[in-house]
Amino acid sequence: METRCFSMLKPGVLNRRIVGEVINRLERKGLKLVGLKMMNISEELAGKHYAEHEGKPFFGDLVSYITSAPVVAMVWQGDDCVTLVRKLCGATKPSEAAPGTIRGDFCLHTQFNVIHASDSDASAEREINLFFKPEEIIDWKDNTQSYL
Ligand code: PPS
Repeated sequence: METRCFSMLKPGVLNRRIVGEVINRLERKGLKLVGLKMMNISEELAGKHYAEHEGKPFFGDLVSYITSAPVVAMVWQGDDCVTLVRKLCGATKPSEAAPGTIRGDFCLHTQFNVIHASDSDASAEREINLFFKPEEIIDWKDNTQSYL
């Protein structure tokens, strides 16, 4: 069954000019991009997005990093979308992320781990609603589905 996953390229990705390379990893898997925008995140939005981590030692660093420069927010769609996106991202800690995954290939430190991806269908729904208005999501007709 098709589901959706919220994903976000963190500030370093724009700075390092690897937006296209990272998006390509998800696109060539066959997932469908149905939402995409570049944006600055306010501290309030960052706090809501990472609310479950409030109080953890890294919370301040996480919020200050994510609000330090623009991010690229995305909604991906496909069968088992959350599982697939997270597999392509690799483990949260770059030292544990397998080579060939986005985090395994593009970063050294957890704070700068390139990409965020929802960890469940429920989180995806919550995060998509935080970052996107319904009219910003375009579920276009996919003519290649039968080849994937
Ligand atoms: S936890 O404690 O297991 O729930 O945390 P985890 O799921 O590993 O990480 C939650 C998000 O916090 C980010 N993180 C950090 N940011 C900055 N500094 C440090 N030390 C740090 N450790 C974890 C981690 O990247 C997760 O954010 P996302 O955006 O999902 O990658």
